[in-house]
Amino acid sequence: MTPTVAMDQQEQVSARDLLSDADLTPGDLALIFDLAERVKASPGAYSRALAGKQLAMIFEKPSLRTRTTFEVGMTSMGGHAIYLDHTKPRLGERESIKDVARNLERWVDGIVARTYAHQAVVELAGNASIPVVNALTDLYHPCQAVSDFFTLREKFGRLRGLKFAFIGDGNNVCHSLMLTGAKLGVSVRVATPAGFEPKPEVTEEARAAGRSASASPQLFHDPFEAVAGAQVVYTDVWASMGQEFAAHLRSQVFAPFQVNNTLMATACRDAVFMHCLPAHRGQEVTDSVLDSNRSIVYDQAENRLHVQKAILMLLMQAETR
Ligand code: CP
Repeated sequence: MTPTVAMDQQEQVSARDLLSDADLTPGDLALIFDLAERVKASPGAYSRALAGKQLAMIFEKPSLRTRTTFEVGMTSMGGHAIYLDHTKPRLGERESIKDVARNLERWVDGIVARTYAHQAVVELAGNASIPVVNALTDLYHPCQAVSDFFTLREKFGRLRGLKFAFIGDGNNVCHSLMLTGAKLGVSVRVATPAGFEPKPEVTEEARAAGRSASASPQLFHDPFEAVAGAQVVYTDVWASMGQEFAAHLRSQVFAPFQVNNTLMATACRDAVFMHCLPAHRGQEVTDSVLDSNRSIVYDQAENRLHVQKAILMLLMQAETR
């Protein structure tokens, strides 16, 4: 029989929801990392950790990794996940977000939501008595960033002071990496074309969040300057979901920001390459980098599962030991 886990009241995150990286303290991140490490090492020990729990998964945008990992995560812990397709109509169009929240809280124990407007997940959480997890909005992708730093902790054995470069668009993933990185003592160096910088208010938020860890994001317009000596080189698509209409124009503006062998050659000799995926091969990254032995993109994807299982357990106040 699979051993079951025991409740530890001490093992609680301070957050009620995970809407933005700002919701997690450095202590919360340490708890998530430690639990994710145990879950990854002994998944069978957690096979009943969410027994009887129900998760609603609202998606306005497509997903491979996020949907699969949350659904597999719930099922593998004895729970159940329900996919709610909100590509059409979007959340709030058929009925108010408030009413969606007030219905769902009567049936399920948690909500995961991928929306265009960040305000939609804020409104869901404001009206639901159950935890709400941001599965990507136009502003943040916290589950991605937490998983990515977990992956880096595995690879490097530490995080503080890691030389991290993000190349491309100052988008939601960039925002979350800057914010979570700052809390963990990682100063993310961001190189974007002019006009595609991360939002100034998020950069300021990350600077403030990093003060106690002596970490602060830095902005560049030259990818070689940002990557020089980096231990981590990260990129993402040049046109995020919802910006596909601008993909052609962006592909010209962003061309000098492609992560290829020439750019990687300026990074640290043992640098790793990261991408949240999906990747547009031949655009933001070449096959030669994505398929190289420096690339850890599939480790990142795998760890989404372990880290989100930890997040679900901690937010749903499950048994965690
Ligand atoms: N990285 C990520 O969130 O992947 P999906 O869009 O496939 O969920």
